[in-house]
Amino acid sequence: MNPLRVYCESFGCQMNAYDTDVIESILEERGHAIVRTPDAADCIIVNTCSVRDHAEQRAIGRLLDLSRHRDAVLVVCGCMAQRLGSALFDIVPAVRIVAGTDSYALLPDAIAAAVREGGRFAFLEMDEAGAYEAPASKANGGVSRYVSITKGCENYCSYCIVPYLRGKVRSRSADSIIRETSSVVAGGAKEVTLLGQNVIAYRDGRVDFCGLAGRILAETEVSRLRFLTSHPRDVDAAVFELMAIERRFCSHIHLPVQAGSDRILAAMNRGYTRETYLGKLREARRIVPGIAVTTDIIVGFPSETDDEFGQTLDLVREARFDAAFTFQYSPRGGTAASAMSDDVSAGKKKERLLALNEVVQEERARILQAQLGSRAEILLDGAAQKGEYRSLKGRTPEFRNVLVPPDSLNDGDIVPVVLKRLVNFTFEGELAARK
Ligand code: 5AD
Ligand code: SF4
Repeated sequence: MNPLRVYCESFGCQMNAYDTDVIESILEERGHAIVRTPDAADCIIVNTCSVRDHAEQRAIGRLLDLSRHRDAVLVVCGCMAQRLGSALFDIVPAVRIVAGTDSYALLPDAIAAAVREGGRFAFLEMDEAGAYEAPASKANGGVSRYVSITKGCENYCSYCIVPYLRGKVRSRSADSIIRETSSVVAGGAKEVTLLGQNVIAYRDGRVDFCGLAGRILAETEVSRLRFLTSHPRDVDAAVFELMAIERRFCSHIHLPVQAGSDRILAAMNRGYTRETYLGKLREARRIVPGIAVTTDIIVGFPSETDDEFGQTLDLVREARFDAAFTFQYSPRGGTAASAMSDDVSAGKKKERLLALNEVVQEERARILQAQLGSRAEILLDGAAQKGEYRSLKGRTPEFRNVLVPPDSLNDGDIVPVVLKRLVNFTFEGELAARK
């Protein structure tokens, strides 16, 4: 068939960003062209998120807006496609294809059929028993790239819709992960972030997550290796021990705590207590003294009292998080928590979110200020423009943002800097001599 111009947009998490990349490369392999605006596109693909109601409302708004492009075949994929299925044809009448989370390989033929014959198609089957062999994403495309290592989640946290939409955990083979990492590194990437809902659950025969990370470091030329996300119940000293000995394995962990009260953690089915969580942080810092920890927190889970919310604030004061993503609880149909009464009022949730954000920012400022004057190696990943002033931006291994004056440096360079000032949680650095 004639090559089509395809435009893709991604909502939600890093996993979706990666999947969108994979979809683009599947279509490019079939000879189609990826375009950067929807204006002249023959096909528009929106990859969606269902984790909170707000995410779905935004995606639906955007789909209604994109419905203006009457000549394009409109495709919805990702979590909201999986959750709403063919009901999406009624919600957004211009939608022609609904493709669930396990059906991206079917997209080229479905798009061709929709262009040729018209009609509507929905693909929602999940292949939970199947192997997970992601077709590799494009080799070229920036200094920092994602590589997916697992698909799905079986933790069934009581508030979370993900296990219902992404299915059981499937691990990709270590060989295929190493091939993709080598290929993106050959294409110019310096940093790779290994992705999964809970990467610590990775298993390929006898290779576990640390075994995989060790093989990637030994067998590829990647300059920096990161990972997202880890479940606090599953992380153990092995990850931190590898970080302590492998300079290229970045000293940062995203470890969602979700709440600070044991009763709420149990109701969330998280599988750990406040004390075991804090114990893991102590262990992490004993093994990797400078490690940065970031987290996710939900406020207003059903029946959460003021006192229990106060325990979340106390935990944030104690945990020394570099950053926290904070959310108001949003009931998701079909989850265990959706059977409980959503009894924390909207006003109260908002109030708690604001109070939480204040403490998060205070703590964040305190942690970052303590770094002033220290040295760090930053990986440059682009330019930043502020009025007249142009600078280069980079990240430390701890994932902290640093701006440096423009110089004869390039994206992808790793350079030593001294952290001089802190402006809105971003450091301004000066280039330092190499040690
Ligand atoms: N309501 C609010 N936040 C949620 N998250 C997941 N499900 C919900 C929900 N129903 C948050 C969790 C998770 C992050 C990705 O989204 O904090 O770690
Ligand atoms: Fe959802 Fe819990 Fe799985 Fe994360 S670990 S995707 S919060 S069920």
